[in-house]
Amino acid sequence: MTTIKIAPSILSADFARLGEEIRALEAAGADYIHVDVMDGHFVPNITIGATVVKALRPHTTLPLDVHLMIQPVDGFIKDFADAGADIITVHAEATPHVHRTLQLIKSFGKKAGISLNPATPISVLEYLWAEVDLILVMSVNPGFGGQSFIPSQLEKIAAIRAALDKRGLSPDLQVDGGITRHNAADVINAGATVLVAGTATFTGGEAHYAANIKALRG
Ligand code: DX5
Ligand code: ZN
Repeated sequence: MTTIKIAPSILSADFARLGEEIRALEAAGADYIHVDVMDGHFVPNITIGATVVKALRPHTTLPLDVHLMIQPVDGFIKDFADAGADIITVHAEATPHVHRTLQLIKSFGKKAGISLNPATPISVLEYLWAEVDLILVMSVNPGFGGQSFIPSQLEKIAAIRAALDKRGLSPDLQVDGGITRHNAADVINAGATVLVAGTATFTGGEAHYAANIKALRG
């Protein structure tokens, strides 16, 4: 049986207390810390950059799972690698040379992830199956927390799972956006191994983080 990992998105955290928030998430049983980096260009919102990732690094031993929603992206990979990211995920739609970008991430000794927007077909993965450590299926249009899960992405998750199984590959299959304790089981049954959760982790405040995370594991 596959162990499901939960990656709380700090997009829903108290940004004035990020260090404390991350320590609380680790104590509550999180597996990764998901960091959403937005540039106001690839997505219609601006969040944080490598300086903040560097500041957060000493606050946890958990992998920092950095989701880059920025374009262009190649020029920033080294900054995030140096800042202490463990996994760096880029959008297939954000770079004209995805293969090159993934190699660049790996050249810094980091795990390389590729993300697909809801409208992006899985054919972009065709020549990348063996190159990626993580595949991220966006189940909302990227840019904001608190949106509703797009049901059509369940079919995409299942199709990716089937393609991976056929090839005997097992990168993380991560799903991000609109995950709740009510739909988590469907996402897991479709083949996901890592659930990103912003709203669902932080609802109710710190006293609820552990129970919220547990509820997502199914
Ligand atoms: C959206 C981000 C997500 C988002 C998840 O662009 O990539 O990580 O913060 O938030 P919820 O879980 O609230 O949908
Ligand atoms: Zn994300």
